[in-house]
This record gives sequence, C-alpha cells and structure tokens, in this order.
Amino acid sequence: MVDHASQSSMLLRYALWLVGLLCTARVLLFLYMSLTSPLRSVPGPFFARFGRVYYFWKVSRGHWEHDNLALHRKYGPVVRVASDMYSIDSPEIVKKVYSVGSKFPKSDWYDAWKHPDPSRWSLFPERDMKRHAETRKRFQAMYSMSSLVNYEGYVDECAEIFCKRLAGFAAHGDTIDMAHWLQCYAFDVIGDITYSQRFGFLDKGEDIAGLLRALHGVLKYGTLAGIYARWHPLIFRISNRLGLGGATGRTYLMKFVGERIRQREKETKTGKDVQKAGQRNEKSPMDFLEKLVVANKEDPERVTPYHVFMMGLSNIIAGSDTTAVSLSSILYNLLKHPAKIRKLQQEIKEFDDQGRCSNPNVSFKESQEMPYLQAVMKEALRVHPATGLPLWRVVPRGGVELCGQFFPEGSIVGVNTWCAHYNEVVFGPDAKEFRPERWIDNEEQGGERLKRMEAYYMPFGLGSRTCIGRHISFLEMSKLIPQIVRRFDFELEHAERPWNTDNNWFVKPTDFQVKVKLRNE
Ligand code: HEM
Ligand SMILES: *[C@@H]1O[C@H](CO)[C@@H](O)[C@H](O)[C@H]1NC(C)=O
Repeated sequence: MVDHASQSSMLLRYALWLVGLLCTARVLLFLYMSLTSPLRSVPGPFFARFGRVYYFWKVSRGHWEHDNLALHRKYGPVVRVASDMYSIDSPEIVKKVYSVGSKFPKSDWYDAWKHPDPSRWSLFPERDMKRHAETRKRFQAMYSMSSLVNYEGYVDECAEIFCKRLAGFAAHGDTIDMAHWLQCYAFDVIGDITYSQRFGFLDKGEDIAGLLRALHGVLKYGTLAGIYARWHPLIFRISNRLGLGGATGRTYLMKFVGERIRQREKETKTGKDVQKAGQRNEKSPMDFLEKLVVANKEDPERVTPYHVFMMGLSNIIAGSDTTAVSLSSILYNLLKHPAKIRKLQQEIKEFDDQGRCSNPNVSFKESQEMPYLQAVMKEALRVHPATGLPLWRVVPRGGVELCGQFFPEGSIVGVNTWCAHYNEVVFGPDAKEFRPERWIDNEEQGGERLKRMEAYYMPFGLGSRTCIGRHISFLEMSKLIPQIVRRFDFELEHAERPWNTDNNWFVKPTDFQVKVKLRNE
C-alpha cells in the first residue's frame, strides 16, 4: 500500500520531470531556430538574442538614441537589438520599408499607445493599414498647408503671452527652465488651435492638474509596455487601478476635451456659432473642433462623435511635447553657436528694415521667405529629432532584403531617426555638427548631396505614416522663433557641456536652464 506522503512525492517527481522536459524542449527549439534562422548571422550584443530583455533594459535607461548610434558604429548597418527586432541604418530602408505604397505595417510596439478596448480607435497606433488609410483621408485637409491661415491668430495670441512672460523674467534677471516654458507654449497653442481655449500653462506657469507629469507617464508607459505589448491589456488595467502610467492626467485631459465639445454643442444650439460663422471670412480663425463638427454634420457616418473626440485629443498628445522638444532644440543649438544666432538676428533685421517681418506678429508667409531661419529650424530638427526610438515595422509576406541580409516575414525592422540623421555617408563627416549652412550650400552646389540628405531626413517619420501635424508644428515654430530672437538675448547655463536628455520615445531635455535678457537695440 502506498501511503499519502510517498504518493505526493511521486507526483512532485513527475511534475519536475515534466518541467525539465519542457525546458529542454524549449532550449532545443531555441537552438534549432537560432541555428537554422536566416538571421542567425546578424551581429549585435550577445544578450539581444534572448527575447526582448536587452532592448527593454537599454530603453528603460533613457538614452537609447545614443546606444542605438553606438551599436551601428560597432556592428554596421544591420544590428540585432532583440531576438526578433533589427535596427537598420541605411538609406535603402526608406524606399523598401517606408514608402507611401509600402506593405509594412506598424509593429506590436504601437499597441501600448492605445486603449486595450479595440473600439477605442486612434490614428497614431493604428496597425491595420487599410483602416488607417481610410481614416486618415477624412482628416487630412484639416492639417493641410492651406488651413494654416485659420490657425495663425491662435499662435499670435500665445506667442504674445510667451514674450510677456520672457520680458518679466528679463526684468528680474531670472534663470528659467526653458524646456518647461516652451512646453507651456506648445500645450497652450495646441489647446487654442484645437478648441479656441488655452490650457492656461503660460498664464499660470505651472503644471495644471498634473497634466504635464501625467503625459510624461503616458510616454514612459507606451515606450516600455510596447516592448512587451502582449501584456499591455493586463498591465494597463493594473496600473490604471493603481493610478500609475499617467491615469489621472489622462482623465483630466479627457474631461477637458469632453467639456470643450459639450460647450460647443451648447453654443451651436443657441445659435452663437451660426452668428460667428456669418461674420467669418477665409482668414478669420476657425478652430479644429469647428472643422470636426462641420465634418460630422456633413457626413455623420464617416466622421462620428467619437472621431471628433479622438482627433482633438490626439492633437494634444502627439502635437505638444514634440513641438516643445523641437523648439528647445532650435534655441539650444542657436545658443551653443553664438555666431549662428547673430547671423539669424542679422537676417531678421534685414527683413525688418525692408518691412518684410511684421512686429510683433511675424506671419507664416514672411517666415517662409527667410532662408536662414528655415535652414536653422531644419538643422535643429536634424541634430535633435523629437522621437528617439526606431519606427518599428513588420516584414510582410515574401520577406525583404536589406543591406544584403534577407529578413523573412514577421521580422521586425526599423530605422531610428537619430541614426539616419547622423549617417556620415549621407550628411558628411561633419554630420554631428549643427551647421544650418549645409542645407543652403548644398543647394548651391547642384543638389546631388541635398537630394540624398532630403531622402534620409525624417524628423516627422516617413511615407503613409508621416506626421499629419507637421505643417501646424512649423506654423508654431516659425512664428515664435524670429520674434523671441529679435527681442531677447539668452545665456545658456552650463554652456561648457551638452545638455542632458531623457528618451521616452520623445527625447526631452532635462536641464535647459537659460538666463533671459532684453536686447538693447
Ligand atoms: C515638431 C513637431 C512634431 C514632430 C517632430 C512630430 C513627429 C512625428 C513622427 C516622427 C510621427 C511618425 C511616428 C511613427 O512612424 O511612428 C508622427 C505622427 C503623427 N503626428 Fe506628429 N510630430 C510633431 C507635431 C505634431 C502635431 C503639431 C500634431 C497634431 C496637431 C501631430 C500629430 C501626429 C499624428 C496624429 C501622427 C500619426 C499619424 C499617422 O499615423 O497617420 N504631430 N509625428
Ligand atoms: C498680434 O496678435 C495679437 C493676438 O492675436 C493681437 O491681439 C494683436 O492685435 C496683433 N498685433 C498686431 C500689430 O497686429
């Protein structure tokens, strides 16, 4: 007779056997796959061969843009960063993977950027290519060059408040956190453009309702949870319950958006906006919400109330920090290179003298005619693009060959904008340097190099998934920069060393301290 104790010890032994067997099978399968995979010879750090742990760990340190550059310096144009993820740095990838007609959908990393509930659709993380193209078409016009005139007044208003704040700091000789103030500007402008209402960051100068901190949490969450996107629905629920991952700020933002929409509905009912619309000409302000509401009225099936809600919300999430980071880069690089800021001030003065640069409200059209200003902005977004992770895409059926390496269906490939922009073959041996002149000189030299630079220049991404808001962001930057550079002098604290940054998808400066002075001219 077998007693109870020996029965359970036998069961335990069986269980251990089974676990051991499964582990061995798993290791054998892993070895078999690694040894037979066409990707077995792709170089990379040893630990990158095991799942995504290495990539997760590195990204969590907040300097992936530098790590990614170092990996390509060490291993060449194709580097394994996880067992199924390959970072590519070669212009070849642009046509093959990111062209407008390409069949490479976004990878699972993007899943963590949306609500796990599939009905909560949004544009940026959409992975279904057909549904994406279908939806993007409906909203394209609201972001077009020709709709910018409607938004200029909102930018003027925020630029004016921003300059007032700077004048206040200058009067006290204050040193300020410029990245924070540019963030306040960018949030208020996008709130104004979208809903005719600023959040009030510029007026208050502080993080209202913890919104900035909360959005930072959203970024950190998406960046890391996306690497293990399978677990996103579970982690999302838990972290929401615990109030992590920016849940409170997200709630505040959703409430803000909801209130703006309800307010607009009320105004429509009382005929207020009808009256306003009667007085409107093509140049007078028409905010985003109004365009969305009109689209909804015209075709309620294609533009649903949910779209009205979601597109407005995504403007704020996708359009504020990115613009703030880019503005910081423009100013920072100018301050790092005093000769270049003087050259820009000189250009503005010449345009001023010719009456081609309005004061205070520099028009978008005027700014487009200033070649050095354009080159400065372009170069600042090259040396410090706002996004600092590879734009991951999935290889479709049939596979793809990149840099002589075959990638079978299902592999994940991507180029990091930072790697593209620092490629010395494309941008020259001085690729590391901030030199706006490269965009002007090369144009004069016939343009072969310029063409190659343009093709590998991607601060707004590439192809069908390129940033829909890029014209709006240029509107915000082009009108502000000449105005502040004309009125103020800035002194960079810690000018002797580069600034520090933190990469959570957006590469944000963390110590951009600047002293503001009024210019005496
Ligand atoms: C200088 C400022 C900006 C930068 C550097 C920037 C950068 C980017 C990049 C790199 C992408 C593509 C990401 C990918 O492939 O994964 C993107 C997409 C997007 N951006 Fe921007 N962005 C900026 C401003 C804005 C603004 C102002 C808005 C809205 C008003 C906006 C809305 C969007 C949206 C909705 C998408 C997703 C588009 C799609 O998937 O079809 N962005 N942006
Ligand atoms: C500049 O724009 C602001 C804000 O829209 C407006 O109040 C002001 O009158 C404008 N100034 C000039 C000179 O047009």
